[in-house]
Amino acid sequence: MRPVTIDDFEAVARERLSPMAYDYYRSGADEEHTLHRNREAWTEYALHYRVLVDVSAPSTATRVLGTDLATPILIAPTAYHKLAHPDGERATTRAAAAAGTLYVASTLATTSLEHVAAAAPGAPKWFQLYVHKDREFTLRLIARAKAAGYGAVVVTCDTPVLGRRCADVRNGFALPDGLLMENLVEVIPLDLQGDDGSELARYVASRHDAAFSWSDLRDLADACAPLPLVVKGIARGDDARRALDHGARAIWVSNHGGRQLDLAPSTADALVEVVDAVGRAGAGGDAGTEVYVDGGIRSGTHALVALGLGATAVFVGRPILWGLAEGGEAGVKRVLELLNAELVRAMQLAGCPDLASARDDLVRRHRRATR
Ligand SMILES: Cc1cc2nc3c(=O)[nH]c(=O)nc-3n(C[C@H](O)[C@H](O)[C@H](O)COP(=O)(O)O)c2cc1C
Repeated sequence: MRPVTIDDFEAVARERLSPMAYDYYRSGADEEHTLHRNREAWTEYALHYRVLVDVSAPSTATRVLGTDLATPILIAPTAYHKLAHPDGERATTRAAAAAGTLYVASTLATTSLEHVAAAAPGAPKWFQLYVHKDREFTLRLIARAKAAGYGAVVVTCDTPVLGRRCADVRNGFALPDGLLMENLVEVIPLDLQGDDGSELARYVASRHDAAFSWSDLRDLADACAPLPLVVKGIARGDDARRALDHGARAIWVSNHGGRQLDLAPSTADALVEVVDAVGRAGAGGDAGTEVYVDGGIRSGTHALVALGLGATAVFVGRPILWGLAEGGEAGVKRVLELLNAELVRAMQLAGCPDLASARDDLVRRHRRATR
């Protein structure tokens, strides 16, 4: 059967992946309320479509931090792409380049950031940073990202410790032999082995800097300059404002795909609060603060709701992993094409020839959240 929805891709991926890998990709934290909330929340809005608009030549073009992209659907950083396919992050970044979108490479990639960059030279890419207790190492990662041609640093702030993903604990999740967190080889000796919970939880507990706080953010922004710093993991309006006051250039509303604090608000609700607090960027992100969002976006209509609520761009995490497992680079391309085709159709049916017209009052609250 040909996959025609992101859920179809997930079903194929589930058959191809080991149960341990599938569980690692799919899971949320604890009881997974926030994992489910994220997706449901997009459906709690209605698209108040307009008729008799010329939608014969729809455009999804947008701009993020000065980079022109063909689509507002971008690729969130996710760890361990070689668990899904031997070509791993190289396949993902090539598919992103072919689709005219942006790929954010994770600190926890199974391919070094230099090799990711070399796989699609000239393609737009950002580097996602976890701040390590070893500050010198953190600064080296930033210097490597600059040297390799990354266009921005995204610092993830929702992971001072790892959320508890029960399936990973039950499975004793660990990378299979032969796969490495290639950006970290110099600081990750073999002491991550153990039988208490997952290997990833031991890495985060021993290496991530849980003391990293507002007073450090300005220094981090200075260290990243001239690259802009994007702050990922924001769920409140006041934190968004603070991040801007401390040197962030853009805000990324996220709760890590429901993998960190369970019962955190849905990202749709957080997006509304953040856009209220920092103001809307202009059409195509050409003025004001850019706000991005991820979490539970599984269709073009979900993306259109997010854009209508004021997001400059949306990011998808798991759908890309399902595509990678389904067919490597070609599978990621198919996932991106599917989401973009869905977005274009939704825009045409909603009377939106471009993304600017998706703002205004297209999106209105439909019903209250039930979870
Ligand atoms: C398997 C997996 C690994 C992830 N790894 C990272 C990571 O290394 N760094 C990071 O900032 N976020 C990471 N995330 C969070 C994603 O960037 C993103 O916030 C989330 O996946 C969006 O939700 P979605 O999967 O529902 O689209 C990960 C998410 C998943 C599902």
